[in-house]
Amino acid sequence: MVRFTIAEQTSGSTLILPVTSGGRQRWMATLDGLVPDRSLFPKSLGERVTICATKPSRRNPRVVLLGVGEAGDKRKAGGEEASAAGGRWYREMGGRVAAAVRSLELDGVDVVLPVLAKIESERAVGCFCEGFELGSFRAGRHKSKRASGLSVRVNVVCDEVEAKVRRAAKAGQAVAAAANYTRQISHEPANIVNPAALARAARSLAKSAGLKCTVLDERGMARLKMGGLLAVGTSSASMPRLIVLEFGGRGRGGAGSDKPVVLIGKAVTFDTGGYSIKDKNSIVGMKYDKCGGTAVLGVMKSLSVIRPGRRVVGIIAAAENMISSRAYRPSDVITMMSGQTVEIISTDAEGRMVLADALTYALKKYRPACVIDLATLTGACVVALGSWCAGALGNDPRLLERVRAAGERSGERVWPLPLWDEHKKAVESHIADVKNTGGREAGTLTAAAFLSHFVGDIPWIHLDIAGTAWTKGRDPTQVKGATGFGVRLLVELLRSWRS
Ligand code: BES
Ligand code: MN
Ligand code: ZN
Repeated sequence: MVRFTIAEQTSGSTLILPVTSGGRQRWMATLDGLVPDRSLFPKSLGERVTICATKPSRRNPRVVLLGVGEAGDKRKAGGEEASAAGGRWYREMGGRVAAAVRSLELDGVDVVLPVLAKIESERAVGCFCEGFELGSFRAGRHKSKRASGLSVRVNVVCDEVEAKVRRAAKAGQAVAAAANYTRQISHEPANIVNPAALARAARSLAKSAGLKCTVLDERGMARLKMGGLLAVGTSSASMPRLIVLEFGGRGRGGAGSDKPVVLIGKAVTFDTGGYSIKDKNSIVGMKYDKCGGTAVLGVMKSLSVIRPGRRVVGIIAAAENMISSRAYRPSDVITMMSGQTVEIISTDAEGRMVLADALTYALKKYRPACVIDLATLTGACVVALGSWCAGALGNDPRLLERVRAAGERSGERVWPLPLWDEHKKAVESHIADVKNTGGREAGTLTAAAFLSHFVGDIPWIHLDIAGTAWTKGRDPTQVKGATGFGVRLLVELLRSWRS
């Protein structure tokens, strides 16, 4: 656990001062005589210069100067761009400070943040705390010498100790903690986290976060004729689950009784490809095929802290895509919950099969204000956009723009891709209503087009997170593995929601 405080005074014997490469800067607090000679400043990113008092104390602390690179506010840019760049800079700074705290084995630290002219202190402090919490994450639950997150007290020293700054710190930490929760479950392999285990996680989350939780097993799915989820999920000895979490609702203050925002996540706990089997290279990482679903869990976790003025429903379509005598085959025709029929071209295009039934369930049960789905859906999206942003497609330009803007503010970026009638046509079948792949061309677009056959005219956005859900760990807030992508993006979207 990281414990953040905001105060005018330092409180411990180690003070970290992040310094820009120019070394000319203002800090958020008055530093009587503590700033040393400029020639001592660290020059490169991540470099540390420690100025050690003989006996470090609160009065006379050890000062650690930490290189944090070029000031991240893009001097000439204004508005959204400066704010996005500044936010990223403070988050990465938080990650670097966390790394310093880890390597110096500190249990408490004071930090004074540098000032950027275009960034308000609440945004600076909020993003710093978010980045620190993200940077403190470790995926070492299964190591004999268990690696875990930091247990440390972080005092952000700031001249402006105001409620809004404290609130920002709390929100930054809450959203990062939710993302870390998502990362932790995402890291679990398929022999530990199967659909039933995800349902158990959701139930215990519902208890601690005050949410309503409903779980459908394969019998419940059969009653609702969820042919898509069953075709994929019953191939495995670990049966599928449809997990529903609800926040707010009728009778809760404010906008409680309105139509909900519905979030849907693909949670394929392992994707072998089925009979359209993956090869030994492309199967690597397929435990992360549940990351859309785990992101929805993370968003739901944070809502009791963030308290958006909206009803939010999270739906997780959990299944394992395996090979067995019960498994579906290429050429099978599957009748979906919506009544539409699907010709199976590839059993490896399983994500859209489970999502389609989850979409139908959402539409029938909740009459949503809008639906946003997250899925590690296509390798084509990794090729098109890499790991820098998720692909976003949908039927509502205004909602798409909102999601894009939330992506810039949160640092989890998305980029729009087209979805036209031509793409919808590309997934029509000669023997059924639709087919589950559209061929080699534009794989991300035809996958979304398949989904669009199941959303009717409800405002809907599909986020393809195949390239962003896990990472080699290049930035200071990340380590190798699951990123929790989507949690911070969707929380930012929900927080900024009006009407
Ligand atoms: N889970 C994969 C997509 C994926 C691939 C995610 C690589 C992350 C990295 C998905 O179920 C899949 O197999 N998609 C196929 C679709 C194809 C059969 C139309 C793909 O992308 O090859
Ligand atoms: Mn697949
Ligand atoms: Zn998949």
